[in-house]
Amino acid sequence: MTQNSKSKADVLLGLQWGDEGKGKIVDVLTPKYDIVARFQGGPNAGHTLNFDGNKVVLHTIPSGIFRQNTCNVIGNGVIIDPYILIDKEIQSVQHLANVKDNLYISDKAHLILPTHRALDYVNETGRGEQKIGSTLKGIGPAYTDKTARNGLRVGDLLNNQFEKKYFALSQIHKKLIEYQGFKLSEIMIDGLPFIEYEQLWSLAAQKLSTYKITATEFLLNEALDAGKTVLCEGAQGSMLDIEFGSYPFVTSSNTTTSGVCSGLGISPRRIGNVYGLFKAYCTRVGAGPFPTELFDATGEQLRQKGCEFGSTTGRPRRCGWLDLPLLKYACMLNGVTELIMMKTDVLDDFENINICKSYNYNGEQTQQPPFDALDKVTPVYQSLNGWKNSGDTKNISAELQKYIEIIENYVDTKITMISVGPDRTQTINL
Ligand code: GDP
Ligand code: IMO
Ligand code: MG
Repeated sequence: MTQNSKSKADVLLGLQWGDEGKGKIVDVLTPKYDIVARFQGGPNAGHTLNFDGNKVVLHTIPSGIFRQNTCNVIGNGVIIDPYILIDKEIQSVQHLANVKDNLYISDKAHLILPTHRALDYVNETGRGEQKIGSTLKGIGPAYTDKTARNGLRVGDLLNNQFEKKYFALSQIHKKLIEYQGFKLSEIMIDGLPFIEYEQLWSLAAQKLSTYKITATEFLLNEALDAGKTVLCEGAQGSMLDIEFGSYPFVTSSNTTTSGVCSGLGISPRRIGNVYGLFKAYCTRVGAGPFPTELFDATGEQLRQKGCEFGSTTGRPRRCGWLDLPLLKYACMLNGVTELIMMKTDVLDDFENINICKSYNYNGEQTQQPPFDALDKVTPVYQSLNGWKNSGDTKNISAELQKYIEIIENYVDTKITMISVGPDRTQTINL
């Protein structure tokens, strides 16, 4: 059957450390797709959409939700906090989207329990100077329980054993928290005492059980069999991948194309186009190595012009020049077929723009990130004249054209679209 399949699933994901602008481009591309599906991550993601004067940040809901007739799927690889999804996210978009009708949730998606969030806080605090800079949404502990085969899944909400299972797991977490010298009753979550948060969570979990919970792997494969189009939306970025990112300063899921297969139940043979998104420069929020990071006025200029403050946590993002060795690495890992360059307008004011083409490491030049030593490399830059007119949709300046060509030649992949502003309308097809 799969060999005769009429349709393949396209993938859209971030090639850097997240926040590349995935939400915006999924929203732009959605009219071409029948289904948009998230395959990994959870409420650590913050995907911003700007359209018709609205600005919305999505955490768990796929970014196709604002286009009528598009079916949105939260796959089994995603982890869900019912309180954040129901009480925060759906609440904030209900005047703009028909979430109850257009959202399908995998019965196999794991739940983030209130004690996962408490554990995340306790674990991060215990790391001291070695903090990862987690969003504290419970991501690490929830994925840990999934692989340790202790987790609770959305489908469990429909089972009368749920409360028993919930109690058993949260008791284990409680002991872990106490072992590390903390008291659950003294931990605050989203500004609420733990016990209050837990009550709201339980109510939200009951509401979640009334949504369309199903085996989404069948929904997706049957849709592909019927020739329907599917776009798989990544969260985070390749450099935050649990396997290939700058470990341990990563998230706890597979953020690369491979995550589509495991996180949605789509076979590798059914993967079509892979859209790889990158900013014209680099940003990172949280701790970990960042070879091209700028600590000077230029870094501050990028932060201010690019409004580089976290969509989920509001933290200032670290900023620096584009890192081609890492971009090439990410293209290799993901099988990127088309590149999309984001936030091109942010570099409009710069007289000179640097682009990192290799690293100096241990007295040698290399294009490969060395094991556990990305913080010890010195970037080797090519300096270019800035461009001044990325916002002009008709004519791209010679300087911008040169920048595009350098990237395309380096990674051997075409840039098919550039983004020149946050709004749905501010994109240029090349
Ligand atoms: P995501 O997590 O990959 O969806 O990205 P975020 O939403 O966290 O961060 C991207 C930010 O840049 C958001 O505030 C977007 O509104 C904004 N943005 C997206 N594309 C562009 C662009 O081309 N230019 C500018 N100036 N802002 C953009
Ligand atoms: P989107 O989908 C940027 C970062 C955190 C931290 C590390 C681990 O919006 O691009 P976690 O909460 O997963 O335990 O945090 O990963 N991080 C992100 N950075 N964008 C994201 O998502 C991120 N999700 C997690 O800042 O450094
Ligand atoms: Mg984001």
